[in-house]
Amino acid sequence: MSKTMRTQVGIVGAGPAGLLLAHLLHLRGIDSVVLESRSREQIETTIRAGVLEQGTVDLLKASGLGARMLQEGFVHRGFELRFGGESHRIDLHELTGGKEITVYAQHEVIKDLVAARLARGAQIHFGVTQVELAALDGPRPRIVFNRGGERVEMSCDFVAGCDGFHGVSRQAIPPEQRKEYVRSYPFGWLGVLVEAPPSSPELIYAYHERGFSLLSTRSPELQRLYVQCDPADPLQEWPDARVWDELHTRLAIDGWSLAEGPVLQKNIIGMRSFVCEPMRYGRLFLAGDSAHIVPPTGAKGLNLAAADVQVLARALGAWFEEGGEDLLNAYSATCLQRVWRAEHFSWWMTSMLHRFPGEDDFSTRLQLSQLRYVACSRAAATSLAENYVGLPLDLLKAPAHGH
Ligand code: FAD
Ligand code: DHB
Repeated sequence: MSKTMRTQVGIVGAGPAGLLLAHLLHLRGIDSVVLESRSREQIETTIRAGVLEQGTVDLLKASGLGARMLQEGFVHRGFELRFGGESHRIDLHELTGGKEITVYAQHEVIKDLVAARLARGAQIHFGVTQVELAALDGPRPRIVFNRGGERVEMSCDFVAGCDGFHGVSRQAIPPEQRKEYVRSYPFGWLGVLVEAPPSSPELIYAYHERGFSLLSTRSPELQRLYVQCDPADPLQEWPDARVWDELHTRLAIDGWSLAEGPVLQKNIIGMRSFVCEPMRYGRLFLAGDSAHIVPPTGAKGLNLAAADVQVLARALGAWFEEGGEDLLNAYSATCLQRVWRAEHFSWWMTSMLHRFPGEDDFSTRLQLSQLRYVACSRAAATSLAENYVGLPLDLLKAPAHGH
């Protein structure tokens, strides 16, 4: 016999999307249960994103989640573009009328979210298995899962699929009810976390004939660096000495040096662009990576997840408060406007900054010309800057008519 449970919104996945949605719903008096296949320790220690847009920071602050981020995060008002042995600063703050980004690790956001949820007596079930979604096209969808050897059936008003790209939620939408758009890239990133002082006060995105590299930070003692690599490379082919060699070569400019230190973690990620339309099926709403993936070059993934759940929490709030369905009906289209802008920006940044295997000289010349244009033209730099800090939703809407 299975155990039964009931909640208003069943949330699959305790990533940034699922946990933030649970918190935003709680602030509106809506009850939810979060189901997560990994352990609390795993989700709180997996190293991923690092850049929060101003809009994400504002949302976390306004929801009472900002205390540690404001203390420990680093506000950056610009970043560096390096290519051809030169460095160019993109002044985000000046180009966007005062906007900035915050460097604060994704797993720290996760820790803050878990702590906030548990402090309010919320239910997050870690280590669940065999999660299945049922009756999504009717008024009482169910999530069935195993927890500690017991089969549990949870009845909900709505299900939020926040279980990332490899989760079960998107797959629960009948294939003929969704369209998927995919682009994969013939390269990946090797990321290292190193114990070293910062080598630069700002992030550095570097284009080099040996490939892309990125210098980011985590704290005064910990730095995060990436080099473009073959996603099929085994990690053993990247001993620390090779990683440092590549970083020194790709980031080199006169009068600057890279501080080395012990490598604490190393991983390789593949890169793809992906969108599933629509982001809804009946009473199931997809949010975050379960619906869309961007290559990490534009630093958009976590921010898109936060933007989705902000829209979803408002729409569910309207439904529970006064039965209004308009915002729920608009959810997918509203989110997809931001998603496609971020898809374009992330693809563009990726294409401009990476070496494509077998690329001809013509393509290289085009990339360098584009980089020079961004470095030298205020209009081009402004376009990069406003996309990087995050565009407000009203700028993404098509005009009602004419111009
Ligand atoms: P996830 O974080 O993937 O969370 C989904 C959760 O669901 C996971 O905890 C998973 O265990 C759980 N789950 C999966 N299947 C099930 C199931 N069947 N049942 C229950 N639970 C399940 N984004 C940025 O904005 N800025 C950056 O600088 C940036 N850099 C990145 C660098 C790297 C190296 C990588 C890999 C990503 C980066 N991203 C960045 C992207 C960002 O990390 C993701 O977009 C973000 O984690 C998406 O959040 P999410 O909650 O949608 O999904
Ligand atoms: C980081 C990751 C990114 O994808 C990016 O574009 C900038 C910074 C980071 O991990 O710090």
